[in-house]
Amino acid sequence: MTPAEAQQRIAGLRADVWRHAELYYRHAKPEISDQAYDALERELADLEAAWPQFASADSQTRRVGDDRVQGFKEVAHRQRMMSLDNTYNEAELRAFHARLVKLLEADDFAYTVEPKIDGLAVSLTYEDGRLVRGVTRGDGMKGDDITANLRAIPSLPRDLVRRGKGAIPKIVEIRGEIYMTQAEFERLNAARVAEGEEPYANPRNIAAGTVKLLDLEEVARRRLEIVLYSLGHCEPEVVASQSELHDQLRSWGLPVVERIWRVRGIDAAWAAIGELDRLRRSFAYGTDGAVIKLDRFEDQRAAGATEKAPRWAIAFKYKADTARTRLRAITIQVGKTGVLSPVAELEPVFLSLSTISRATLHNEEEIRRKDIRIGDLVEIERAGEVIPAVLRSFPEERPPGAKEFDLVAAVGGQCPVCGGRIAKLEVAAEGGKGVAWKCQNYDCQAQRAGRLMFFCSRRALAIDGVGDIVAAKLVELDLVRDPPDLYDVALETLATLNLGTEQEPRVFGEKNATKVVAAREAARALPLEKWLYALSIPDVGETTARELGRRHRTLAEVADSKLLQVVLEKARLGDRRELEAPASRKNPAKTDEEKARRKELCARLDAEISALDAGMLAGVPGELGPAVAASTLDFLASEPGRRLLAKLRKLGIDPAGTVVEAGVFTGKTFVLTGTLPTLKREEAEQQILAAGGKVSGSVSKKTSYVLAGEEAGSKLEKAQALGVPVIDEAEFQRLLQG
Ligand code: IVH
Repeated sequence: MTPAEAQQRIAGLRADVWRHAELYYRHAKPEISDQAYDALERELADLEAAWPQFASADSQTRRVGDDRVQGFKEVAHRQRMMSLDNTYNEAELRAFHARLVKLLEADDFAYTVEPKIDGLAVSLTYEDGRLVRGVTRGDGMKGDDITANLRAIPSLPRDLVRRGKGAIPKIVEIRGEIYMTQAEFERLNAARVAEGEEPYANPRNIAAGTVKLLDLEEVARRRLEIVLYSLGHCEPEVVASQSELHDQLRSWGLPVVERIWRVRGIDAAWAAIGELDRLRRSFAYGTDGAVIKLDRFEDQRAAGATEKAPRWAIAFKYKADTARTRLRAITIQVGKTGVLSPVAELEPVFLSLSTISRATLHNEEEIRRKDIRIGDLVEIERAGEVIPAVLRSFPEERPPGAKEFDLVAAVGGQCPVCGGRIAKLEVAAEGGKGVAWKCQNYDCQAQRAGRLMFFCSRRALAIDGVGDIVAAKLVELDLVRDPPDLYDVALETLATLNLGTEQEPRVFGEKNATKVVAAREAARALPLEKWLYALSIPDVGETTARELGRRHRTLAEVADSKLLQVVLEKARLGDRRELEAPASRKNPAKTDEEKARRKELCARLDAEISALDAGMLAGVPGELGPAVAASTLDFLASEPGRRLLAKLRKLGIDPAGTVVEAGVFTGKTFVLTGTLPTLKREEAEQQILAAGGKVSGSVSKKTSYVLAGEEAGSKLEKAQALGVPVIDEAEFQRLLQG
């Protein structure tokens, strides 16, 4: 790997890891499994260690995932809350032990082994035995105050019980995990599915979402539980080891883990990890690993900590549950963009607390690569997602005559839903580009239903209640062709919608229908960016939609966008470097004269773009490139696009863009680094954008200011090297005042 390659890979990984940490910690909506996340973070950490010149204090490998969101008061922890290093194998566990032997110059220390609970971390403060506060982990230093939500947990004592000898400290921070039982998770999911909403993937996600709800009645309705296992600040100290702490917490009347092992040596710890693995499925909370800690606090202090995790503890993660079963058939599903995806139809098998009869096979290439054939014995895995995946097949146990799977043959060369033409297209796939077969018929029922469901999803217009079943039904009955047709479906029609069969009817109901009607009306007021995203314009994801929404006032303006036209026109002129190079034999058609003309035109278009784009946020560079410009303009000018616009016009829906007018920061670009004393990063960003400024991720000569807080990293050094002004929060506020 060359330095340039390493730098590029590190930058890519850093962005990915950051995004997935945000999805997991802040939004409780992870897109990848914990294992996949750990693997990305591990790769990043290894590369940063091998290429220290590209390390950065801003990297997710050096800080804990931040869960803070708006709407909660921030409170500082008295003692920092850390993360844990992870391992998935015995050799690394032994390496952990070997490091401690060296550090402590001893080898007879005691460990505790306890369950690693798959919930979300919380710190409780008891003063003179009274619960005064509950705070999330946040960035480890400061978290969100969730005291009100915690009071809705019936099993959490408000007062510590004074029993016998155990004195009650004046102030104590007790750390633990909030979780939801499997039974409660299933109850809530069943209710969601009945109302046509997307089920949650696992209890952890819904527990994390619930803790951050502002609606206390709803919090109380979704029963949360808590378990406590660790100590923060304690004044005066009352226990001297982890095993004593466990007993002390229990005697104070707090809920604690079912089982904790106190052992000497790593062999005994390894045995305890195995024993825990056999017991863990009977626990009330999800247990995805074992936490191995030095028992004595004195030893813990001697071992110390890195930037984000203690050296005296490690998490051993168990492998995700797998099961073996027969692959009965492969069916083909058609998604909202028309992509044909193979689905494994399985002999039902019990895995991770539920019966599985379907699993994802991703795409045809993957089926080939894993050599999976109908009739095969296959291994399936559940890694935190709703739908399990097929991991591998066992060709040695294959029934005779099993043929390689051929997707096109399986669907008879046409879309299995509408019978329309299919074509092979490049699509974005894990680890780069892949190929997929796509139904070419925009009016395919599967695509219609997929688009309607997407239109109503949380991230789009948040019309709760219209999930896959309701959407499919509305399309099947031809009540909805394009998503905006949802506005024409009468309340009574919705209320009497039969989601079951003729023999076993199951109506959507008055209550659900009323909710949908209220939500669709509320959606009228949503900004242009949400609507652009909700309309499933090819290539327009959330970020692009936001960038478009900031640069246009109305949908009609996007359809006729001067800015997008100029971006396209400029792209057509050709590659800038090519224009600047002298005429060559390779390209004789382009004379120097011709090039000079084009170059001049290019500069004119650049000026036009920046005039049109004045005061706008730079955003993610390249987000509004020629590809996006072409597909947006093409789609909105196409028959389906014009149809959508006409329908919205008829409904009186005219969402407004959030065009930023010129402000004190117009024309200024900021780079943020470190932790600011009072403002959260997003708040500072919001204020910059609102004042017409731009925010960029990296420092260059064009940067106007670097806004730096505590623990600022390499960006600060770079700013100093380039002579870019560095300001603190106070100076920032002064500038903002004008
Ligand atoms: S001790 C300084 N013990 O795992 C060490 N953490 O991946 C602090 N967790 O933030 C953690 N079960 O939220 C500890 N028995 C346990 C745990 C546990 C779950 C969580 C905790 C921590 C995260 C790190």
